Parts: sequence; C-alpha cells; structure tokens
Amino acid sequence: MPSDGPQKRRFETTAAESTKSSTGRVILVTGTAGFVGYHCAKFFKKRGDGVLGLDNFNPYYPVGIKYDRAQDLEDSGVYTIKADLNDRSMLDHILQEYKVTHVLALAAQAGVRYATKDPASYVASNVAGFVQLLEACRFCDPQPRIVYASSSSVYGLNTVSPFSESHQVDKPASLYAATKKANEMIAHTYHHIYGLSMTGLRFFTVYGPWGRPDMFAFSATIKIHKGEALKIFQGPGGSELERDFTYIDDIVQGCVASVDRIPASTKETAHFKVYNLGNKDPVTVTYMIECLERAIGKKAIKNYVPMPPTGDVLKTSADVSLAEKELDYKPTTSLQDGINKFIAWYDAYYKDGLTKEMASYVFIRVPAMFDYRRLMAIFSIPKTVFVANRPLCCPPGPAEGKAGVSYKRLSGILDGRFDLSPVLDFGSLDRFMTSETPLAVAAAQRLLQRKGGVLEPLKSPYEYYARAALLQVRARRAAEEMIDLQPKKDADVW
Ligand SMILES: NC(=O)c1ccc[n+]([C@@H]2O[C@H](COP(=O)([O-])OP(=O)(O)OC[C@H]3O[C@@H](n4cnc5c(N)ncnc54)[C@H](O)[C@@H]3O)[C@@H](O)[C@H]2O)c1
Repeated sequence: MPSDGPQKRRFETTAAESTKSSTGRVILVTGTAGFVGYHCAKFFKKRGDGVLGLDNFNPYYPVGIKYDRAQDLEDSGVYTIKADLNDRSMLDHILQEYKVTHVLALAAQAGVRYATKDPASYVASNVAGFVQLLEACRFCDPQPRIVYASSSSVYGLNTVSPFSESHQVDKPASLYAATKKANEMIAHTYHHIYGLSMTGLRFFTVYGPWGRPDMFAFSATIKIHKGEALKIFQGPGGSELERDFTYIDDIVQGCVASVDRIPASTKETAHFKVYNLGNKDPVTVTYMIECLERAIGKKAIKNYVPMPPTGDVLKTSADVSLAEKELDYKPTTSLQDGINKFIAWYDAYYKDGLTKEMASYVFIRVPAMFDYRRLMAIFSIPKTVFVANRPLCCPPGPAEGKAGVSYKRLSGILDGRFDLSPVLDFGSLDRFMTSETPLAVAAAQRLLQRKGGVLEPLKSPYEYYARAALLQVRARRAAEEMIDLQPKKDADVW
C-alpha cells in the first residue's frame, strides 16, 4: 500500500468504500483484472457483498483488457488493488483492516502451453503466492473461508472419462497442472493444521464476454475476422481435441454457491472439498468453430496440425454430479448461446477495431523441445545466425562474459515474441554475421577459426538492419509455424 500522504488516504478511502457490505460478507477476490475474477466480483457487489479486488496486472496477455475490466469494476464500486500475491504485508493489511470474511482466490499464472516458456512465473504466482495468501489467512482472527481456483488440467493423463473428483490425479501433463494440483495439496495442509475451510474449484475451459485473449474462442474470433487460418490440434490418428467449454455465467454461479456454502474456518466446522465446474457436454474444437462461424457470419479457414508436446490433453469432460448435489450447480448455457453472447460483447468492445496492443498480440506456443534442424530450415539459414553488435556476436571463449551473449537483445529484435535462446548454441553454429568494428570482427574471426567457423562481415549496419527485418518476418512466420514442430527421434532436440 502507498506508504503515506494523499495516495495512502485515497487507497484507504476507496478500499473502505469497496468493502462496505449489506450482507455481512466481505470478499477479497484475487485476480479481479482477470476474466473469471472480474465477473465474480461484479456479481458479489451487485448483490450487496463488500468486495475488494487484488491483481498484479501482469502482461501475460495484453494488459489493456485487464485495465478495462478493473475500470468497469471500479465504476460498479469494486476497487482493485494493484499488488502481487507475494506482497505479504499488503495481504495482512487487507485481510485484517477490512475484516475479510471470504477469499475467492483466482489470481494465478494461467495457461498450459506458456508454462514451457516461463515456468518460474507458475511457481511464483501459483505456489509461492498461494502459500503467502494462506499464511496471511491463518493469522487472521477470525480466519476467512477460502474458495480457490484449481483446474480440469489436474486430470492430466487420466484416461477415464468423464473426469470425476474421485479419480486419482497424480499424472499432470503440464507444469501448470502440477501447480494447480499443488494448490489442492497445499490447501489440504492448511485445512489440516490450521482449520482453514477450503473449497477448490476445477474449472473446465471457460469462455464468454471479457474472456482471455490467449484462449481459443477469443484468438479464433480475431483470426476469423482477419481471414487468417486457424490451427486446430489433432491427436493420434487424426483424432480431434474435445473440450468441456463452460460459459462464464455458469462458472460464476458455481463460484457464488461455493462462497455461500463454505462453512466457517474453525477446527470444528472447516471443510476441505474439491468440485468440478464444467459443462458436462464436451464438444470438438471444430464444433466450437462452427458456432463462431454462425455468430460472426463468416467462414473460418481451418488448418489441422498435430498437437505439440506442450501439455494439452486430448479430451476434457466433466462429471459435475458432486457440484450438482452439494452446490446446486446447473450449467444451463449451450455453446451456441454462449458464443453468441461472447461475439455480441466482442463486437461492442472492439466497435472501433482492435486496439493496437491486441492487433499485434501473438500468442507464442513454444514446444517443450525444439527440432533444431527444422527450426533452422524454417529460417532458411542453416548453421548461420545473424548478429549485429558485440553482445550478440561473441561466441563462447575468452571474450565471453565481458561482452556476453545477449539473447534478450536478439529476441528484442524479434519483437520479444520468439525466444531464440536454444538457437544461440554457438558451439553448433559455424557462421556469424556482424557489422562490428574491424577490431571486433578480427577478434570474433580468431575465435571462430579455432573451431573452423566462418565470419561474414556485413558492409554496413544498414545491411544488418535489412537482414534483421527479414529475419523478423521469418521469425513471425516461424512462430506461427512452431506448432508444427515435432521432435524427430534422430534430431538434436532441446
Ligand atoms: N479460464 C479458464 O478456462 C480456466 C480454466 C481452469 C482454471 N482456471 C483458473 O481460474 C483462475 C482465473 O482464471 P482466468 O481465466 O480469469 O485467468 P486470468 O489470467 O484472466 O486472470 C488471472 C489474474 O490473476 C492475476 N495474477 C496472476 N498472478 C498474480 C500474482 N502473483 N499476484 C496478483 N495477481 C496475479 C493476473 O494479472 C490476471 O489478471 C486462475 O487461477 C486459472 O488458473 C481458469
């Protein structure tokens, strides 16, 4: 929280206003700038609960939509504090100062495939951040009740369908799933030791208005509008991926029921429960596209590609009988109705066209392992890397460390969208291009000669820029194609 002065006063006044409650409930919703948190917070406020939001507004996907969600919530009386879950003193302050009765813990690093690119963010938010939140809760008196987001991904390699809470879930297929499973186990520990009441909700692929741009319904809509091909994953033997797509209002209904029914956090009353919140009606991704085509009024271009080894599972299908019985959960929205509502929102939200940020957003799915030869073939620069300045052209050797090999710089040139670090294995490259000073060129040449490499000096920095621009275009295309990359048995793989 701001340390002193007018900012602190504004913070406290707004938070105090936001937590005013006519129902006795004061709910801290984490992840209110996110998709599900936004909708839940809005619902709670409308019925009179005191609600305070918390979000770190991280740039995993374009932040413009996060700020718009938070602004819309603020207009409805819900204040979102910009803070990280790992800010323990902030959590202590919020929980105690505003006498929080319930926590709806939705803030997390979401997304299955991104975990192959930035695994640390999952550990920081989903594991460390979650523990900080529970630690802060356990020191409250009275302790709040906690409902938190798990995920259908915990079913991982489970082959028994539909997925039931009674199934064993110890074979996660992604780091994301492993952190969500960890949440459930950590929740059990805090329930067991400190008597915290804990309800975990395994959401199944949520979609709807204000949805996530990294998810299929959203990204497919943008591509259909632009006339770009949709990549559709196929499993073994050309089988189609199936998902239990669940409309946001049905998820909100399940979250609200969980908050309303969770017993008090005392040793005597606390419970530990986990529920599936799905739609119990899995459909193929192709069917989802047909719904989008009808709602948008335009045909999609479909490109079926093999599923990359990044942790997606072939089919998710929810058995929601436990939630039906204990939460009175009844998903009622058909996929076509839900998609119609999503498209109506999308058309209104982007009535003036996509924002610049959204128009340039490319969600990179980086395979866990690269087929090096294939990657270089896509770039048509076998065993060559374009380099410009000293930090980029320094192969391992005496000068390394002084100059450093900056892949950050190179991926910056590539718009930060494509992590080239595995390519920068200088040991396996034999050609470098540089526009450096003659002295630096000579030094690099000496280093390269020792391992039989070739250095190709460029005539001027302009030539480099021209080539870098070309590489950028290729990288963009490659990024689009990455999905096709499959490790070959005989290839060098990372
Ligand atoms: N949307 C789905 O289909 C789906 C499916 C299964 C599970 N979930 C889970 O539901 C929850 C909500 O998902 P969503 O779709 O709204 O995702 P989202 O990414 O839109 O929202 C999550 C929000 O949490 C915030 N956040 C992340 N790390 C944080 C941190 N360390 N501190 C503070 N804020 C942080 C992000 O900025 C984001 O706004 C997540 O826990 C997600 O894993 C979602």
